[in-house]
Amino acid sequence: MMNLIQTITSKVPSLPLFATSESRQASGAAEAGTSAGISGTSGTPGKEKAGKQLRMETHDLTVHYGSTVGVKNVSLPIYDNQVLALIGPSGCGKTTYLRALNRMHDLTRGASVTGSVMLDGKNIYDSEVNPVIIRRRIGMVFQKPTPFPTMSIYDNVVAGLKLVGIRKTSVLDEVCERALKQAALFEEVKDRLKSPGSSLSGGQQQRLSIARALAVDPEVLLMDEPTSSLDPQSTSRIEDLIHELKNQVTIVIVTHNMQQAARVSDNTAFFYVGDLIEYGPTSTLFTKPKETRTEEYITGRFG
Ligand SMILES: Nc1ncnc2c1ncn2[C@@H]1O[C@H](COP(=O)(O)OP(=O)(O)O)[C@@H](O)[C@H]1O
Ligand SMILES: [Mg+2]
Repeated sequence: MMNLIQTITSKVPSLPLFATSESRQASGAAEAGTSAGISGTSGTPGKEKAGKQLRMETHDLTVHYGSTVGVKNVSLPIYDNQVLALIGPSGCGKTTYLRALNRMHDLTRGASVTGSVMLDGKNIYDSEVNPVIIRRRIGMVFQKPTPFPTMSIYDNVVAGLKLVGIRKTSVLDEVCERALKQAALFEEVKDRLKSPGSSLSGGQQQRLSIARALAVDPEVLLMDEPTSSLDPQSTSRIEDLIHELKNQVTIVIVTHNMQQAARVSDNTAFFYVGDLIEYGPTSTLFTKPKETRTEEYITGRFG
């Protein structure tokens, strides 16, 4: 199965960055027809290969808010089907870095980004790249669950598909079910898909937000403290989910909870006042940090 956007763009070579609604509908139907569930395999090149495969990479990534620096000169690899955790004290630039990875700062007044963010070897900040497509390939889940409150559970999940003009009920039904299953929410909501998203518990709403992000079949999922407003049980469900999802999607998660970083991630990046201080395999960073500041932070001496 190809990524939805790749399917779209490969079928519409003359429109590499934005397809018409008919072509999207057609390719969406083809996509949904072969869509794989949580245990499915993906046909995206590189996704099934063993070992580390680079999915994204930043080079000297710097974000300013006016004259304030959010993060500076951050160069990091982001590997396919692995979880990267971003940790560090409040205000150190975790959210700023995360939002640069799918051009969310385009929408922030006064924010400017320099350096590069490579996705599959191409800089997403190149002038010909459509940020709307980028945000579909690199999805985002926020700190607070973000269901559209008046929309049904069903409509919440398929909102992104409707935005790109996919209207065919059979396609929407199939994608809705697939995404809810991927987000480990389907069993709980299958009998009340028409109920409002706001009728769900906080933990369920966060899984609904994840389902909505997954519905458009992203390659990368960015999560900004996705469990910070949840109880321990819901947190644990989301952490289990992250483990399952990383087989299908590359995940970057911001967390202020070091136990969570240690539980869910393969690699960890420690930020401090806008600088990347240390990056490495999570097990190494938490047991044998190279930098004094990393050690001080993970042992709770500040933060
Ligand atoms: N929209 C904004 N406008 C101005 N400054 C901001 C904005 N967002 C973040 N910052 C500043 O950038 C720095 C990094 O913030 P942030 O990335 O939110 O940190 P973290 O997510 O690690 O808590 C902080 O100094 C913060 O005040
Ligand atoms: Mg933050």
